[in-house]
Amino acid sequence: MDYKKHIAEKLIVEGVSQEEIYSSIALPPNTEMGDYALPCFKFAKVMRKSPVMIAESLASTFVCDEHISDVSAINGYLNFKVNKLGLADRVLKSVLEQGEKYGSSTMGNGKTVCIDYSSVNIAKPFHIGHLSTTVLGGALYKLFKYLGYNTVGINHLGDYGTQFGKLICAYKRWGNKEEVEQGGIHAINELYVRFNNEATEEMEVEAREYFRLIESGDKEANEIFEWFKSLTLKYVQKIYDKLGVTFDSYAGERFYTDKMQPVIDELKEKNLLVESDGAQIVDLEPYGMAPCLILRSDGASLYATRDLAAALYRKNTYDFDKCLYVVAYQQNLHFKQFFKVLELMGKPWAKDMVHVAYGMVSLEDGAMSTRKGKVVWLEDVINKCVEKAHSVINEKNPNLENKEDIAEKVGVGAVIFGALYNNKIKDITFSYDKVLNFEGETGVYVQYTCARANSVIQKGGIPESYAIPQLSVAETEVIKALADFPSVLKDAAEKYEPCLISRFAVDLAQKFNKFYFDCKILTAEDGVKQFRLALTAATLQTLKNALGILGIKAPDKM
Ligand code: ARG
Repeated sequence: MDYKKHIAEKLIVEGVSQEEIYSSIALPPNTEMGDYALPCFKFAKVMRKSPVMIAESLASTFVCDEHISDVSAINGYLNFKVNKLGLADRVLKSVLEQGEKYGSSTMGNGKTVCIDYSSVNIAKPFHIGHLSTTVLGGALYKLFKYLGYNTVGINHLGDYGTQFGKLICAYKRWGNKEEVEQGGIHAINELYVRFNNEATEEMEVEAREYFRLIESGDKEANEIFEWFKSLTLKYVQKIYDKLGVTFDSYAGERFYTDKMQPVIDELKEKNLLVESDGAQIVDLEPYGMAPCLILRSDGASLYATRDLAAALYRKNTYDFDKCLYVVAYQQNLHFKQFFKVLELMGKPWAKDMVHVAYGMVSLEDGAMSTRKGKVVWLEDVINKCVEKAHSVINEKNPNLENKEDIAEKVGVGAVIFGALYNNKIKDITFSYDKVLNFEGETGVYVQYTCARANSVIQKGGIPESYAIPQLSVAETEVIKALADFPSVLKDAAEKYEPCLISRFAVDLAQKFNKFYFDCKILTAEDGVKQFRLALTAATLQTLKNALGILGIKAPDKM
């Protein structure tokens, strides 16, 4: 139930649109005054009346109903009270009946959203910098699916470029098969770092030749390249499994090798290509941007060329309604440029391209440096978090069964939640202690709350029927939070902000814990006890649904 919408529909303010009323309705600072409030000073100008008079006249004509039980005008505000018993009844029914579908919707109505995320670079380290794109994209993927969209997860592999020539050159010189097979991506990365440290002019020439060989389809060069690629993918797959993210397509940059020429032709045809110092560019000066490079002077294509080809391919293949790119803000200019080029090409869908930009993640001790092979591998961060979770559990609850499994869920959950708790654009500093704090605004705190609710349900069961008693403030707060879940999801999808879901989960967990400590559940008198058990079960379900969208599992016990 969207109360704001319901109220807005019932209010007629001359000269003010329903949307405007809707967006003006807020939560009053003090819940004693009401559950929703409409400040009327905003309408004083259009209505040529004082806010106090407006509020009074609106209050006198507003007709209460089964949803809104009371309306009053106080100091230029219109305050509404929600019919709590009706709300509690409806919300509990919806959550318990819909179960793991509670919060889902059909708003997507089969429309397609492509999500380009994680997009790992072959033979390069998968480091902590890839955490955000992987878990943000993974959460958006699940969220859009939950809201009835047809989602296409795309891992736009970084598998094109001269570095692969360098790698083959280094492998030929210093590598050996068993070592690379054994060491996988780490061994490959070492070869690459060694090349960058030790390469002579002669080796650089050789590397260019190897790159040309890959391009021209040489069997041996391609075999080595494909081998590196499969080792990289095997490695990242383990991490994707841990983080619970999936992809529908691994069409990377190489995939577009033969799909760039048509784009270049189209650009030419539309008179958009300009020569500049031998290179082919699209001039974006009129739009206040540096030119978009399409072909280098040696004829080689660029990152943007492949992204243009990929965009056209995605539109043709998936006919998307939106195409999202979950990529760090360092690439802001690239996306602005390439979206602009699509617009200049006359693609009406250029407006459906969205760069979902996010900030940097660094470690507390500042150990993040990609130069010369000094990197923090994401796998190590996850493993360390799982290990730490294990020791925290050992300390808190040494007799717990399945500690390994629980530590895995807690550790991985802490990493994901830590990355998804802030506005995505903010730079964050990752701290093991912070993300594993049982009392903080963390995934662990939410998981712990789930375990607590679960233990109550294990003892009391989920009642077949219950009546709604007179509600305490703590109970009402939980009910209201539960009722908000569907609109939180909608909002998170519209803003591409999974943090709205993680913040919701913490808020609901806090409200539930207040209820848990304020009100007896298992020892409450009959009648009230059934309702409180139902409320506990509904909270557990909703927390699990929220965590699930973020890719986090809730252990039954902790
Ligand atoms: N592999 C790129 C990088 O690590 C990200 C690719 C993002 N997706 C895209 N279509 N450009 O920077």
